[in-house]
Amino acid sequence: MTTNGEPPATGSKIDPRGAALAVEDGEPPLAAAPPRSRIAWCITGSGHFLEESLALASRLPSVDLFLSAAAEEVLPIYKLHIEALKERFRVFRDKTASGVPVGMLYDDVYHTVVVAPATSNTVAKCAFGISDSLPTNMFAQAGKLGIPGIVFACDTEPVVVTKSPHDWVTLRPRRIELDNVERLRGIDFCHVVASPAELEAVLDARMKELSLAWNTSSS
Ligand SMILES: Cc1cc2nc3c(=O)[nH]c(=O)nc-3n(C[C@H](O)[C@H](O)[C@H](O)COP(=O)(O)O)c2cc1C
Repeated sequence: MTTNGEPPATGSKIDPRGAALAVEDGEPPLAAAPPRSRIAWCITGSGHFLEESLALASRLPSVDLFLSAAAEEVLPIYKLHIEALKERFRVFRDKTASGVPVGMLYDDVYHTVVVAPATSNTVAKCAFGISDSLPTNMFAQAGKLGIPGIVFACDTEPVVVTKSPHDWVTLRPRRIELDNVERLRGIDFCHVVASPAELEAVLDARMKELSLAWNTSSS
């Protein structure tokens, strides 16, 4: 078994779906699996609940990470290094204008798209149908394919206490950020959550719906 709970692809039948895209991104191709058997987990440039979101992703089987360019900068600021994440997840970076890894959604690789944590920037784009980053492209295309999206929006309360790289800070999201969250709640195939506990509960419901189990080990 690999760290992500998959049987190693070497020596087993390679899944052709998404294989070319994986090789392009330096990620190993997958062993053959039923369609829509993985989770696409998008990470944006949010420090708020970043560690908690990744902790949940680590407890789920068959997760691939899709980073925004900002996520790639913010992760190491919180001492979360991409090389270390690659030991556990397949990691796809935002290297293309068109969101090339989105092709794996068309290849029926993923059953769910999670955006956690989602910056207020990404929430605004998702709420207004803008797709110009890897997470916003994944979210929009998933919706068009009827694949459920779960978005952990950070700025959901009038006062938010968040962890900056060095300290805790108090933020007061503006009306526009709160309005965008409400607008996002009305988008098709989208479930908005506002806390790690709510994210865990919605993921648990989705896993049960698909008769899938959480990882028993965090290693
Ligand atoms: C250390 C650090 C932490 C950040 N945390 C947040 C955050 O919690 N919420 C947020 O909305 N933006 C946060 N930002 C700003 C976003 O990264 C920035 O708006 C970025 O353009 C978002 O791009 P994305 O939505 O494509 O990931 C943070 C930036 C830095 C440098």
